[in-house]
Amino acid sequence: MHYALRILAGATTLCAAAAAAGIQPTIHPTSVCQSIARKISSHSEVFYSGSPNYVAAMSHFDSASSQQAACAVEAGTPVDVGFTLRTVGSSCVPFAVKGGGHATNPGFSSTTGVHISLARFNTTTYDASYPNTANGAVTIGAGLTWGQVYTVLDPLGVIVVGGRDHSVGVAGFVLGGGYGYHSNQYGLAADTVLSFELVLPNGTVRNITEKSDADLFWALKGGGNNFGIVTSFVVRAFPQGQVWGGSVVQAPGQQEAVGAALDQFDSVTDPRAAAVGNFIVKNASTLLTSVTLFYDGPTPPPGIFDAFLALPTLQSTVKTRSFLDLVLGNAGLPTGYRGASGMVAYTANTPTFINATINEVTSLGVSLAINTSAAAVYYALEPFQKGYMKNSTGAYPPPAARAGSPMPMAVAFEWSDAKDDAYLRKELADSVARLQAVAVSDQVVAGQSSVALPRYSNYALAPTPLEEFYGAEGLARLVKIAQRVDPLRVMALAGGWKFQTHR
Ligand SMILES: Cc1cc2nc3c(=O)[nH]c(=O)nc-3n(C[C@H](O)[C@H](O)[C@H](O)COP(=O)(O)OP(=O)(O)OC[C@H]3O[C@@H](n4cnc5c(N)ncnc54)[C@H](O)[C@@H]3O)c2cc1C
Ligand SMILES: *[C@@H]1O[C@H](CO)[C@@H](O)[C@H](O)[C@H]1NC(C)=O
Ligand SMILES: *[C@@H]1O[C@H](CO)[C@@H](O)[C@H](O)[C@H]1NC(C)=O
Ligand SMILES: *[C@@H]1O[C@H](CO)[C@@H](O)[C@H](O)[C@H]1NC(C)=O
Ligand SMILES: *[C@@H]1O[C@H](CO)[C@@H](O)[C@H](O)[C@H]1NC(C)=O
Ligand SMILES: *[C@@H]1O[C@H](CO)[C@@H](O)[C@H](O)[C@H]1NC(C)=O
Ligand SMILES: *[C@@H]1O[C@H](CO)[C@@H](O)[C@H](O)[C@H]1NC(C)=O
Ligand SMILES: *[C@@H]1O[C@H](CO)[C@@H](O)[C@H](O)[C@H]1NC(C)=O
Repeated sequence: MHYALRILAGATTLCAAAAAAGIQPTIHPTSVCQSIARKISSHSEVFYSGSPNYVAAMSHFDSASSQQAACAVEAGTPVDVGFTLRTVGSSCVPFAVKGGGHATNPGFSSTTGVHISLARFNTTTYDASYPNTANGAVTIGAGLTWGQVYTVLDPLGVIVVGGRDHSVGVAGFVLGGGYGYHSNQYGLAADTVLSFELVLPNGTVRNITEKSDADLFWALKGGGNNFGIVTSFVVRAFPQGQVWGGSVVQAPGQQEAVGAALDQFDSVTDPRAAAVGNFIVKNASTLLTSVTLFYDGPTPPPGIFDAFLALPTLQSTVKTRSFLDLVLGNAGLPTGYRGASGMVAYTANTPTFINATINEVTSLGVSLAINTSAAAVYYALEPFQKGYMKNSTGAYPPPAARAGSPMPMAVAFEWSDAKDDAYLRKELADSVARLQAVAVSDQVVAGQSSVALPRYSNYALAPTPLEEFYGAEGLARLVKIAQRVDPLRVMALAGGWKFQTHR
């Protein structure tokens, strides 16, 4: 068996063919690690359990998203990433690739096989005269978090469309779409990409642009980890001065008023303005509301945020400051819990939808804590303005959705005990389905395509049918591109939203 597999592997035959012939991969991941360690260049290194580099590679925002790999390959060059990918592919060994480790679905960026760490792709470089751009472009290593990127850009007076929490990774965020504070102005992060440095599943390194490969360039804007491993992104830069914003926590009992303020905010058309409304129950206590407010300028014009600012307030961090300071000051969700996230696509903060949300968070926040280790439930409404997706050109969002400007509500549960995993994931799925039904009946115009409210892969709970992200046509195109770029289905050995299986 072992011998036969090696022959198949040597001929780079499909893992699927091996499986079909009844041959299970018998090469142990550790021996694959050792073989990689012997052959990679001096720019790269393989780490095993116990070393700090290994520990960093395994770590995730949600503890349930981590597994212990046989080793962490810290590749230092795209060529070494390619060698590693070819080796795991021909050995049919499961592997993982991780950016910032914020995936909440287990196994999406973790493995018990070979972990490919991109920690050494850690530079952020601004080129003010990048061709065909108004303000230049920034090249960002795939091992970075947004906080690290903003730290480099802050003194340069430029910004890119990126994450709202500093600890979120660049790579997974961009490859799924990427909603940021600047999305009303400049769209999703994926739509600002000019070039992806991509290690193809066969180990070849290519820069993928609109010109070099329009299909693959389209697919990488939302299609995730199905086409290879991205080692760096070139994205459009935009000018950045002082901003106004922060987070405001309301006095208890203001949930309906916060909902009304969000409803009113739907009519704001100044693209420099953004807000997020949070409805939270922690430790089965009373409903907590907070809003994150953002204006891309030192002072917002009067009117825009008045309804939020008029509410009785417990605490506010709103002030004029740098964008970096705003992001580093975001409290965000606590890390270290087990967790899951899901999402609801909706188009307006209507009283009906807000009311349903308040009912969900209130009842689940209390009931789940009675007999599970649930510590908190979060429902975050993320309003965006009409037309913010009008320039989108990638796999996500699908064309049928762009005009309607759907927006995401992120739902997250956090808990501490692994025995509650299945039950709480099911409760989250049910809650999201109930709210999605409210959004559809409240907001979808009769005759409108169902992808008018597409799910967002970076927030969605697995399993979600992939048509719900891309539409049926988009999915068919993605599958074709995956078949062309990855005929041996190497990327199917990694977790994530998959266009091909390895069997
Ligand atoms: C606290 C928190 C805040 C968030 N805030 C936002 C937000 O404001 N806006 C928003 O849009 N989303 C947000 N998200 C969701 C976020 O976009 C996703 O979790 C995203 O996947 C994170 O990327 P990552 O690199 O950190 O994740 P990882 O877990 O490292 O990776 C996610 C997926 O991308 C793949 N991947 C990673 N690196 C590469 C690579 N180099 N090449 C190919 N595939 C790769 C992985 O294999 C995995 O399948 C947030 C999530 C959390 C937990
Ligand atoms: C990038 O990684 C290298 C190699 O691991 C390390 O020496 C360097 O300090 C890192 N740089 C940053 C900015 O983190
Ligand atoms: C869309 O493109 C136009 C023209 O380049 C630009 O002015 C506008 O800001 C863009 N809008 C978004 C939301 O990307
Ligand atoms: C990709 O482009 C960068 C410059 O933007 C260059 O340094 C790199 O060598 C290119 N890679 C390939 C494989 O062409
Ligand atoms: C809000 O929800 C409550 C509880 O389900 C319900 O009784 C009430 O009619 C709802 N109000 C609106 C405006 O939908
Ligand atoms: C908690 O209680 C509910 C309702 O009684 C029940 O359906 C569920 O199975 C229980 N969950 C756990 C994890 O015990
Ligand atoms: C819940 O309460 C515990 C014990 O007081 C505390 O340690 C934890 O931080 C709380 N969790 C949240 C999400 O607030
Ligand atoms: C790797 O795949 C690419 C894209 O499918 C192809 O163009 C290239 O020739 C392949 N390289 C090798 C060495 O097979």
